[in-house]
Amino acid sequence: MTQLSAEQLKSIAHQFGTPVYVYHAEKIQEQYKKLTNAFEASDVQFFYASKALTNINVLKEILAMGANVDCSSINEAKLAMLAGFTPSKILYTSNGINFEEIEEAAALGIHINIDSLSNLEKFGKKFGHSYPVGLRLRPNIMAGGNLKISTGHSNSKFGIPVNQVNEIKELVKKYNIFIQGLHIHTGSEIKDVDVFVKGIEVLFDIIPHFDELKFIDLGGGFKVPYQPGDSETDINLLAQKVKQAFSNHPYKNPLQIWFEPGKYLVSEAGYFITTVNVLKETNTATFAAVNSSFNHLIRPMFYDAWHTIINISNPEGKEKKYAVVGNICETDTFAWDRTINEIREGDLLVFLNAGAYGFEMSSNFNSRLKPAEVLVKNNAPVLIRQRDTFEDLLRNQMI
Ligand code: LLP
Repeated sequence: MTQLSAEQLKSIAHQFGTPVYVYHAEKIQEQYKKLTNAFEASDVQFFYASKALTNINVLKEILAMGANVDCSSINEAKLAMLAGFTPSKILYTSNGINFEEIEEAAALGIHINIDSLSNLEKFGKKFGHSYPVGLRLRPNIMAGGNLKISTGHSNSKFGIPVNQVNEIKELVKKYNIFIQGLHIHTGSEIKDVDVFVKGIEVLFDIIPHFDELKFIDLGGGFKVPYQPGDSETDINLLAQKVKQAFSNHPYKNPLQIWFEPGKYLVSEAGYFITTVNVLKETNTATFAAVNSSFNHLIRPMFYDAWHTIINISNPEGKEKKYAVVGNICETDTFAWDRTINEIREGDLLVFLNAGAYGFEMSSNFNSRLKPAEVLVKNNAPVLIRQRDTFEDLLRNQMI
C-alpha cells in the first residue's frame, strides 16, 4: 500500500511545525488508477468532487492524472480554472444556489447540473436551447454512511424529485431546454454497489422523456476504509455491475457514464499531524489534549466519524486507553476510550484519512489559526499553504 512513513511525517512536523495537513500525491494517483483500470474500455468520465480538498496544488495533481473536476460553488469552479482545467473538464453540480451563480457558470462555459424547478425555469427563459445543461434528480434512495451524508432519500433537499418529471418535461418543452445529462448523488460512504445499480434503474425509467441526452451522472460516494479491518467499495464489482446494467440501456443513443468521487481519491492520501499539549488523568479517562480541535478536523464531532490516531513519537510505547480531545472551549472529543501507544506531552499524534473534508471544513473558531498544508511527491515535501497568521484574523475586519 502506498503510504507515508512515520519517519517522513516526523520530519515534516519538524520542518513545517504542527498542526499540519500532509497529502501524498502518489496515493491520489493510485486511487485514480484503481478507478480507471476497473472501468477500462468503457465510456466513463471521472469528475473529482473538489469540495473534499480544494488546494490548487492538489487540483493540479488531479488535472495531471487526466481527471475532470466537479464543483459545488462558483468559487470552486474558479479555483479549478486557475489550476488549469479547461471549461469542458469542469462540472458545477449546484444545489440551492442563486440563479446569478448559474449565469456566472454559464459565462465560464462549464457544465452545469441544475437541481430545482425554479432555477430550471430561469435557465430556460435565459438560455432556451443554446446551452446544454444537466438535471440533478432526487432518486428517493436511502444510502450513505449516516443520515447527515445521505443525499438521495425522499426527505432530502438535494435534486428535483424524480416524481416531478412531468413538471420538468413541461418546462423543457415550454423553453426548448437542451437537457444533456441526468445526475444523481445518493450519499457518501456507500459500500453496497447495488445502490448504484438501483440509481441506474431509476434513471432508466426517466431517460425516455428526454431527447438529447449525452450522459448519466451517478455522483460520488465510494467508501474508503476508516477503521482497521474496515472495507471499501469494491470498485471492480461496481464496474462489472454498472457495465452490465448499461450493456442493454434503453436509450436511443450511446450514453456516457460520469462519476464524481471525492473521498475515494483523497481521503487516505491525507494525514493530519498534531502535538500533544496536555495530559490529564481523571477518574474516568486519561485526556490527551492536542494543539487542534474541530476548528481543524470536524468529522469526529460532526458525524461521529472514526479517524485512526497514531502516536508516531512513541510507536513502541505500551498501549493504553485515551480520550483524545482538543484545545478549544467546547466538548471536542476526537476519540474516546481509544487504544494508542503511550502518549507523553509533546508527542506527535497523526490522524489518518485526513485528506477529504479535513482542511476543507476547517474554520477560525476561538480565533485560532488554520493549519498549514504540505504535499509530498516523489518523497519531497512542499508547503502548499502557509498556516494562518494573526493578520488573517484581522483581514476584512473594520478597525
Ligand atoms: N457529488 C456531489 C454532488 C456531492 O454532493 C458529493 C459530496 C460528492 C459528489 C462526493 O462525495 P464523496 O465521493 O466525497 O463521498 N463532509 C462529509 C461528506 C459530505 C459529502 C457531500 N457531498 C464527510 O466528511 O463525510
